[in-house]
Amino acid sequence: MTKNDNPADPTGLNTQLVRAGYDPFDYHGFINPPKVHASTVLFPDAQTMERHGQKYTYATRGTPTTDALCDAINELEGAAGTILVPSGLAAVTTALLAYLSPGDHALIVDSVYGNVRQFCDTMLSRFGVEVQYYDPLIGRDVEALFRANTKLVHTEAPGSNTFEMQDIPAIAEVAHRHDAVVTMDNTWATPLFFKPLDAGVDVSIQASTKYPAGHADVLMGSISANARHWRALKRANAALGFCGTPDDAYQVLRGLRTMGVRLERHQANGLAVAKWLEGRSDVVRVLHPALESFPGHALWRRDFKGAGGVFSFVLAAGQTTDFKRKAQSFLDGFSLFGLGYSWGGYQSLALHVDLSDRTVTPAPVEGPLIRLQIGLEDVEDLIADLERAFAASSTV
Ligand SMILES: Cc1ncc(COP(=O)(O)O)c(C=O)c1O
Repeated sequence: MTKNDNPADPTGLNTQLVRAGYDPFDYHGFINPPKVHASTVLFPDAQTMERHGQKYTYATRGTPTTDALCDAINELEGAAGTILVPSGLAAVTTALLAYLSPGDHALIVDSVYGNVRQFCDTMLSRFGVEVQYYDPLIGRDVEALFRANTKLVHTEAPGSNTFEMQDIPAIAEVAHRHDAVVTMDNTWATPLFFKPLDAGVDVSIQASTKYPAGHADVLMGSISANARHWRALKRANAALGFCGTPDDAYQVLRGLRTMGVRLERHQANGLAVAKWLEGRSDVVRVLHPALESFPGHALWRRDFKGAGGVFSFVLAAGQTTDFKRKAQSFLDGFSLFGLGYSWGGYQSLALHVDLSDRTVTPAPVEGPLIRLQIGLEDVEDLIADLERAFAASSTV
């Protein structure tokens, strides 16, 4: 695992993950923080209540459990502040609501997580925000899309399902010259492999559901802002009333402690499978930023310290033009890979990607796109399972 790059704290990232956010001697030496279930917090007298003169005032504004997680995430992200919300999707939508107003223009990457597009095309548009999708490969040419009312650029690298790399520092530099906020969904890399705020992003978003929680049993999202944008985020959160529950915050902090070692395994297994797929004649191409053959590889190598375990590949259609049937026969051939949404848990998963909602980037024409989340199993067993899936689809 790479070194932590904070010069004030020269410990390694795994050491940081083990200690971040909570000092056991703040709570009688217990190594994990207390799980505080709360709504009401009592004040000792009316004057203190009037002044809100104590650290905790009401549980929507934080508890010792959610604070331990937020403090840990602040350390990892290098953020001025972090808020917790009930899902990764809510983390993106809350960030967009925090910085956009009626009459604003927002630039959203075309490879954005699909449910965010749904939010933009419905609620955000209904609230009078003009949304424009841009090519994930646009880099600094994004400047041509700026208007006088462009207030926000949303990025996600690599992109959902198709894994395009974005030139985040270049986009952030352009956006800041136009006084626009830059938000980034960094769920794939986590702050261990890419630190958005160090690269010029203002607001770093994480679906904690994935690698931080790590066991496919928790939904949570985090939003971390730099000093300039923290107040607006905190205000929006207070107005909306979204908050993380103590049980989920506890589970995510618990997951963070082991995220480094899990990610190393996701990365190694994922790359081994991706390279194996590259060698097959029934695979058209593998969309994985850490592969040298991938068009965005140079950007990944320049900016990222590692890779998540999720990627896609184009399955050769062979004789058929029925991509859906081909994909279904492939997926039904698995016995170890689960068929299900989400990723970041310990089990490997697969799905057929639907790109029909994209408006800028084209879908592959050579065959169906299959997304794999590579889990923590033994890689030989995963490859044997993939062999079964290829065999099952070969007759279609
Ligand atoms: C990149 C990305 N961001 C956000 C989300 C949303 O996370 P959640 O499932 O917690 O809403 C997902 C879910 O798959 C995702 O892939």
